[in-house]
Amino acid sequence: MTNESRLADVAIVGGGVIGLSCAFELGRRGRSVTVVEREEVGFGASTVAAGMLTPSFEVELTPPELVELQLDSLRRYPQFITDVESAGGLSCEYRDEGTLWVSRHRDDELELDHLCQIQKDRGLPAKRLTGRETRAIEPYLSPRVIGGLLVESDHQVNSRKLVAALEAACLCVGVEIITKTGVSTVQRVGGRAELTLQRDDERPLLHADQVLLAAGVWLEEGLVTPLPRIGMRPIKGQIVHLKGQPLVNRVLRNSDVYIVPRAGGELLLGATEEEQGFDMEPTAGGTLDLLRYAFEILPGLYDLYVSEIDVGLRPAVTDHQPVIGPTNTEGIFIAGGHYRGGVLLAPSTAHFVAELMTTGRVPAEVEPFGIERLLLERQQEAAG
Ligand code: GLY
Repeated sequence: MTNESRLADVAIVGGGVIGLSCAFELGRRGRSVTVVEREEVGFGASTVAAGMLTPSFEVELTPPELVELQLDSLRRYPQFITDVESAGGLSCEYRDEGTLWVSRHRDDELELDHLCQIQKDRGLPAKRLTGRETRAIEPYLSPRVIGGLLVESDHQVNSRKLVAALEAACLCVGVEIITKTGVSTVQRVGGRAELTLQRDDERPLLHADQVLLAAGVWLEEGLVTPLPRIGMRPIKGQIVHLKGQPLVNRVLRNSDVYIVPRAGGELLLGATEEEQGFDMEPTAGGTLDLLRYAFEILPGLYDLYVSEIDVGLRPAVTDHQPVIGPTNTEGIFIAGGHYRGGVLLAPSTAHFVAELMTTGRVPAEVEPFGIERLLLERQQEAAG
């Protein structure tokens, strides 16, 4: 790269699953799109994510409008996968075996009853199982498992494959992806957006009619934009990868841990949730907790090999809901703060962001996730 100036219809800051999904959608609609990523595509959260497509997850803490967006995205997933795979030719390892929640004691059982009712109220299939029925469909479960809840509408995707497939799909629809390049400033100059890129000693400019800020946890780290601070912060998640004999067929989970099977006998155990700033080092304690919780329900993993311990930084704002919409600067938009749901929410985020950026109208589905709520919060804080 040299210090030249480039031009695009849309510049996207951040090449994670959200930035790439939006780029693909906009590229398919005929816009010229340039994605600028400070590391490699998917770095930070996307390639670490377990890839569970489970709106049933943490249902108590999720407001109804976010549940609606999650369900909308889950419904879009099969077509999204078909589009991405057929554009770029790479598989995303999409699987539809569902999630099996397991219980080990009376409190777990009450939680599963409650979760089952919520799923049914939403019209989603959910089936309560006895301990014997639960172990019959996943024979390696501990004999201590006394019940289960099978949610067959939950699906999963291999997030690393998804990122690679999205990158390939983006390139096939003409998206330019610049990696290992930071963005230091985004500003409005002469009716257009101007981005200052940063790579080694070079400071090229990128001009665009529109900018989408999709930089994950780095939205407010080393990047100056016209956006007031919205308090984006990283939430560290450690995830242990095991490899060996395939032990389970579907995602297993309880309130402490999730166990995600991938092709070739790989199992992912996730995930810790820690407020440790930008620390990306795995710890003994995080690993110990995940192995212990998972061992309690799946003792056979004792003999598997540890192939990797991965750390991701989930982007979150104070209310842990995504931030999707226009900003208070013309031509500059945001899609971020997806916290634990970036992979699940990628298809609907991409669809509604592309609608917004091409029509100028905020789709009703993402209205609740506008930036205004965070700006109001900041004003209230400042007013004491
Ligand atoms: N999506 C699951 C997690 O963030 O741990």
